[in-house]
Amino acid sequence: MILETNKNAPIGVFDSGVGGLTAVRCLRRLLPGEDIVFFGDTARVPYGSRSPEEIHRFARENLNYLLSFGAKAVLAACGTVSAIALEDLQDAGIPVCGVLLPAAEQAAKITRSGRVGVIATPASIGSGSYQRALEERGCTVTANACPRYVPLAEQGRVQPGDPLVDQATAEYLAPMREAGIDTLILGCTHFPLFREAIAAYLGEGVALVDAGAAAAEALAAQTGVGTRAEGGRLEIRVSGDPVSFAPLAERFLQEKNLRVQKARLT
Ligand code: DGL
Repeated sequence: MILETNKNAPIGVFDSGVGGLTAVRCLRRLLPGEDIVFFGDTARVPYGSRSPEEIHRFARENLNYLLSFGAKAVLAACGTVSAIALEDLQDAGIPVCGVLLPAAEQAAKITRSGRVGVIATPASIGSGSYQRALEERGCTVTANACPRYVPLAEQGRVQPGDPLVDQATAEYLAPMREAGIDTLILGCTHFPLFREAIAAYLGEGVALVDAGAAAAEALAAQTGVGTRAEGGRLEIRVSGDPVSFAPLAERFLQEKNLRVQKARLT
């Protein structure tokens, strides 16, 4: 629950990199009056090929960093952290939400055939968390890990027609076509950046669920957020190079003159 005394505090959002901005974009649209602090752990991206121990440690450090800004709620805009370490973060005294359950709930609601696909990082798929959440909701699941998507997104290579994007898309989504899914969860927050390429490959009959957007909608619906109507500020901090992150962030958020600062994690 968000305390009355905290209501003017910022919302914290973190991810390993640029992917979390897909959730920030949605939050900015839904809650234009809220201050947001986004932290991208670009010095340590990708998370999706790391061990559970590392993912737990990074998740805790990222949460602590955002708590140092007095965040009133934190969105772990990272499928990998949501699949592996979210339960650990529930002792912060503020709401800490992930992307997995909102995405699974949305997909289970949308699907007509019950055949749902999920693509995410190797760590997320390996944990089985998405699969369990969907099966508990009555879905038949086809899951696939997509290790090459995150490095491509971090380089800004996301457009269909880019040979590496097209090759990865065909390889990762062939099992989805075969299984005849009607709904696909983009279970890593980097993946909505490939929406065009994914939609072109799967065709119009497959609904795409953006995990970051689903989580932003769930967070925006909580009591105590969204107290001001407009004028929310966005602060972006990254653990890697802020200069190269700025143009990517401007492109993905469709906002100009964003200031990106170097984060110092203690
Ligand atoms: N965007 C994150 C996720 O949703 C992390 C991707 C990565 O760093 O591998 O899983």
